[in-house]
Amino acid sequence: MSLTGKHIIVGITGGIAAYKTATLVRLLVKGGAEVQVIMTPNAKEFICPVTLSTLSGKPVISEFFTANTGQWNSHVDLGLWADAIVIAPATASTIGKMANGVADNMLVTTYLSAKAPVFVAPAMDLDMMAHPSTTRNINLLRSYGNHIIEPAEGELASHLVGKGRMEEPENIAKVLSEYFEQDKPLKGKKIMITAGPTYERIDPVRFIGNYSTGKMGYAIADEAARRGAEVLLISGPVAIRPESKEVKVIDVESAREMYEECHKHFADCDIAIMTAAVADYAPATVADKKIKREKDEIPQIELVKNPDIAASLGASKRPGQLLVGFALETNDESANALDKLQRKNLDMIVMNSLRDAGAGFGTDTNKITLFKRDTTSRSFPLKSKKEVAADILDEVALLVDTTD
Ligand code: C5P
Repeated sequence: MSLTGKHIIVGITGGIAAYKTATLVRLLVKGGAEVQVIMTPNAKEFICPVTLSTLSGKPVISEFFTANTGQWNSHVDLGLWADAIVIAPATASTIGKMANGVADNMLVTTYLSAKAPVFVAPAMDLDMMAHPSTTRNINLLRSYGNHIIEPAEGELASHLVGKGRMEEPENIAKVLSEYFEQDKPLKGKKIMITAGPTYERIDPVRFIGNYSTGKMGYAIADEAARRGAEVLLISGPVAIRPESKEVKVIDVESAREMYEECHKHFADCDIAIMTAAVADYAPATVADKKIKREKDEIPQIELVKNPDIAASLGASKRPGQLLVGFALETNDESANALDKLQRKNLDMIVMNSLRDAGAGFGTDTNKITLFKRDTTSRSFPLKSKKEVAADILDEVALLVDTTD
């Protein structure tokens, strides 16, 4: 089971099955997830918060404010942090509150703020489970898109036998990991991404470079890893690192080094995305000592052409391999982008214009238009680079489907 890096909120409500949730938390943590437990006040009558904070490695949240410090527990931040919320056990009362928006505790408030998928594992006595009110509320949760993990049949705390036992923790953990698995449309794909600037050495202390920060390429690398791809990031000198531990980084400095690494790995890849701002020229020779300031002479730097990495990969592309390039333009944007698409034998080009505020180097946002080989294009509004990465990979996934 792999839940590596997933942020999971485990909500516990006041039912006897709460004792089983300790095992659930343990399983999720073992699977690689970061778990934040939120308990309703009644849940604490059934299981001790210290057990859960120890297993999750995080203080349990139960109140809107931490009693001794007055610190506000932000349900909004928690809701945004979560990749999934699982409420186990979910009592009839909490299910009713969730269904009807009765936000009188931290758990239901967080539920209402969250955008992540929600999994609900009901647990109650068989007559409560069979009551039309419960059935209606569970159906309401289904209509909101929540996933109901059906209770099992068996002996209940009341010693009656019927439907209402909370599903076993192992099965709840399995439902979550299977959910995240099918959320990985790029699983089994190898993606190579270039990012950042290149530095072309003049002497031991100077170089020719550019303002690229690598943010766009790193955002694509992280998003591709989240979607299950095996990601190799060939990065020029930047000040950032990928958020995902799954992204493998090869650091390079010059265009020549980037070229060598790309050609070493391209044959193995299904997809290559070239976001790097590669210097077009490099000094013909690199001085081995710092070039001194001469009194009357201005040094001349002779330049030689760097290889065009994207074009060279385009020339060696196998059928079925996808090659995506970027075009950062200042004028005649569409015509230039389409020309590069053809010339470099790309399957798609991502065009951004320095004329658009918020697009280009260093910003956390970008505004792009995608062009494909069939010359169809799609323009997107200004978005965060994370969202732009998701849009690009959505289109890449569509192209993968047509070549598979
Ligand atoms: O021709 P231009 O530099 O505008 O092309 C941009 C695209 O080509 C980008 O995808 C960039 O990463 C790639 N490129 C490259 N090697 C170069 C120049 C550009 O891979 N030497």
